[in-house]
Amino acid sequence: MCSAGSHEYSKGEHGYFELARPTSPALTIQSTSSEFAHIQESGGKRVYDVYLRPWLKAQGAARVLDAGCGLGVGVVAALNDGFDAVGTDVRSVADLWCQNGRSPDEFTVADVTELPFADAVFDAAMALGVMEHVGTQTGQLTLAMDWRDKRAAFAKELERVVRPGGRILIACPNKRFPIDIQHGPTDELSPAPFRNRLFKRFGVNVHQTWGAYHLVSYSDLYRWYGRQRVRPLPLAGYFGYAALERPGVPRSIGRGARAWVEHMPVRLRGTPLNPYVLAEITV
Ligand SMILES: C[S@@+](CC[C@H](N)C(=O)[O-])C[C@H]1O[C@@H](n2cnc3c(N)ncnc32)[C@H](O)[C@@H]1O
Repeated sequence: MCSAGSHEYSKGEHGYFELARPTSPALTIQSTSSEFAHIQESGGKRVYDVYLRPWLKAQGAARVLDAGCGLGVGVVAALNDGFDAVGTDVRSVADLWCQNGRSPDEFTVADVTELPFADAVFDAAMALGVMEHVGTQTGQLTLAMDWRDKRAAFAKELERVVRPGGRILIACPNKRFPIDIQHGPTDELSPAPFRNRLFKRFGVNVHQTWGAYHLVSYSDLYRWYGRQRVRPLPLAGYFGYAALERPGVPRSIGRGARAWVEHMPVRLRGTPLNPYVLAEITV
């Protein structure tokens, strides 16, 4: 048990600190399934090796936060590389941490909109595939009433815990690009039978690119952080492309999509022609 301000916090059943208010969704959201955790395990290590390790080394980062780390594959890999890394996620993920032998010294249950860390303690913070789940009703994709506030709070918390001059990395499918291959049409628009059929057949979720929709755009990042501080990064190396190799996806489309993602001109990275938001923010 420990306390901070007027709150008392304790360890959960697996020994991980639960540093979230009793009313926080981080204590109730049902997150990653074991099946998805398996995908995270292999994909997460590849992303770390190919993309994140060079990114962290390039900035000379030492203390690293993975906010919404899921299974925490990146945290473990970073620790093995000598970074002082910690991961936070919701209570339901702690079951998976326990099953996979994650240390309570490095993994903490917390709500990313109220991070339990002092100001400016990290050199770098990552939120990979997390922002689109924040402010949703159940941790999945249908937005709650306060989704805009929750996301702004998450963006602000990342900025608060990173030291001046440090970096934040945010990744999410681009809301302005009409196709998402990471999330199915299980948002509130899902009754549209056309979207469901397309998703079943080709694994693509064709979605709206405006208004209240759970994905994030570069405009969101510019609003939270200011355009000058946001640098759209190349996507090359970030993806494994397994989704493009599934049966039903014509090879030529898979090849074309891959070539576009790997070789997109720099000036188009921050535009609706980029399928993914992958951005570095300077604090
Ligand atoms: C798609 S997973 C991404 C996991 C990991 N970052 C990765 O790249 O594999 C999204 C993660 O965000 C977490 N998450 C969503 N809302 C959260 C919140 N309010 N506080 C903490 N974690 C949250 C989920 O539990 C889930 O593990």
